[in-house]
Amino acid sequence: MSFAAKHLRLSNFRNFGHLELEIPNGFTILTGQNAQGKTSILESLYWLSTTRMLRGTRDAEAIKQGEAGCLVEAELVTGTTIGATLEQGSRKKFYLNGASLPRASDVLGRLPCVVISIFDLEIVRGDPSDRRLFLDIELSSLFPAYLRHLSIYKRALEQRNALLKMAQERAMDDFSFDTWEEPLAKEGAELRRIRNEYLDSLGPKVTRYHSQMSSQPEVLQLSYILKDESTDRDSLLRGYQETRRADIHRGTTQIGPHRDDIEIRIENKDARLFGSQGQQRTAVIALKLATLEMAKEHLGESPLLLLDDMLSDLDAERRSRLCHVVATEAGQAILTCTEASAAGEEILDRSVVYAVKQGTVSQP
Ligand SMILES: Nc1ncnc2c1ncn2[C@@H]1O[C@H](COP(=O)(O)OP(=O)(O)O)[C@@H](O)[C@H]1O
Ligand SMILES: [Mg+2]
Repeated sequence: MSFAAKHLRLSNFRNFGHLELEIPNGFTILTGQNAQGKTSILESLYWLSTTRMLRGTRDAEAIKQGEAGCLVEAELVTGTTIGATLEQGSRKKFYLNGASLPRASDVLGRLPCVVISIFDLEIVRGDPSDRRLFLDIELSSLFPAYLRHLSIYKRALEQRNALLKMAQERAMDDFSFDTWEEPLAKEGAELRRIRNEYLDSLGPKVTRYHSQMSSQPEVLQLSYILKDESTDRDSLLRGYQETRRADIHRGTTQIGPHRDDIEIRIENKDARLFGSQGQQRTAVIALKLATLEMAKEHLGESPLLLLDDMLSDLDAERRSRLCHVVATEAGQAILTCTEASAAGEEILDRSVVYAVKQGTVSQP
């Protein structure tokens, strides 16, 4: 395995002063009571993988209280080290083998990971923006080109929105709008194409995992919902031009991939509105296992799976089905739970178990 992590070092990260942790190639279970630091360990790896914190918190909140800065460093089995530092009041920096990377995004793809945590429930329950963020994070880590399309699109969108606001005060010439609508249409059509393609392959996998984990047969369907009809560059460009006047009135851009959504239907009902807690939870897990499989197909090996606290709240049957899928599908995985027994024998037999207590880790 060329992506697997071998060693993790934390310094003043969350409630950890200093931590050196060996990570085995297979499965690791982190056990411990609440608020001991289990999620923080997963978060540190997620930070290196995605440049983001796990819980949507601001980066600075990761610095241990009272300290000036934090460091996270992971050594991979290949010998490559990936690092991240953050000093109070300045920008986070990412490193590859000790050398500073020009942009944070340069670290994407070095330590691919898929996380399944309670925060992911928002993908099913939350707003369209939660689902778009899920897509953007997945696709950016798999395809560097997607991230380029996305950043150009976002910049053009900001510029067009600024123009719309100015146009409320005084007449703006068409030329200024054309300047930003052209890249919006070009990049927007690409974003939609890549998202559509990805979801076309992802959908059947989610359906399969969902039915594998449900107690009675249930059909889950995933579809990409366009805010408008335009799938190619020309029609999107016409769309932006035609909605210009209405957009000036509202002060924002109404059409385009930044308004799209993913619809998740279970037994033909919108899971967001009508799914039971158990169904929503199963749907999120199925979605994430499917992203793991997609990443595995794309990368040629399984990314690191981080499973945070998902076992405790599932009923025994769903839990054992999930554990079985994890045991058969995952490569390297780190699971957190209060009691190691929650992981079930199939996983436990192959795991190294660590106990996390007040920001220290030991082998029980
Ligand atoms: N920046 C920080 N400095 C110090 N402690 C923190 C910081 N951020 C979070 N914590 C604390 O770290 C502890 C561990 O949190 P967490 O990793 O979520 O634990 P667990 O997953 O084991 O329940 C919590 O008590 C939390 O309040
Ligand atoms: Mg936790």
